[in-house]
Amino acid sequence: MKLIIIGFMASGKSTMAKILSQKWQLPSHDLDQMVQQNAGMSIPEYFKKYDEAHFRALETDTLGMALKQTGILSTGGGTPMREVNFDAIQNQSAPVVFLNASDQTIQQRLIHDGASSRPLFQKLGMDGMMQLKHRRQLTYERLADRIINVNNENPVFNADRLVDKL
Ligand code: S3P
Repeated sequence: MKLIIIGFMASGKSTMAKILSQKWQLPSHDLDQMVQQNAGMSIPEYFKKYDEAHFRALETDTLGMALKQTGILSTGGGTPMREVNFDAIQNQSAPVVFLNASDQTIQQRLIHDGASSRPLFQKLGMDGMMQLKHRRQLTYERLADRIINVNNENPVFNADRLVDKL
C-alpha cells in the first residue's frame, strides 16, 4: 500500500483516494466497498441483518486483505478504532493521512447524504455523531503521519495540498 486515508464519516476519504489514484495512476481501494463485496450486501443491510460487532469483525478481516494490495486505501470512519486495525495500519510502511474535517462540514454532508447509507447516523442522530467524532479525534491524530484540515474546498485542491505535505 502506498497511502492510507483515515478520517470520520463524510470527511471525503473515498473521493480523495479516487483523485490520487488518477493523479498517480495507481489503483485505489475502498474498504467499505470491499466489505460490501465480502458481505454480499450493503453496509446498512449488514447492520440490520447482523449487528455492529459482526460488521467490525468483517471489517478487520477485509482490512487484512486490503493492506496486501498496492495503491491507495480509503478506510471506514471506524476502522482505526479497533486496536488490531490501528496496529495493522501503523505497521504499514505507507504514510497515513488523516482528513480532519470540521464539525460543520461533516454535519452539512451528513444532512445532504441522509441517514439511509449510514447506519450509525440512523442510530445516533446528529448529536450522537458529533460526540462520536470528538471521541475518535485523538485516535485519528495518533495514527496519522499527516493531517489535512478539510472544509468544503474543492477536493482536487485538497488532493494537491495533501501531495504537497507528503
Ligand atoms: C463507519 C463508517 C462507514 C462504514 C460504517 C461504519 C464508522 O464508512 O464503515 O458505516 O464507524 O465510522 P465511511 O467513513 O466511509 O462512511
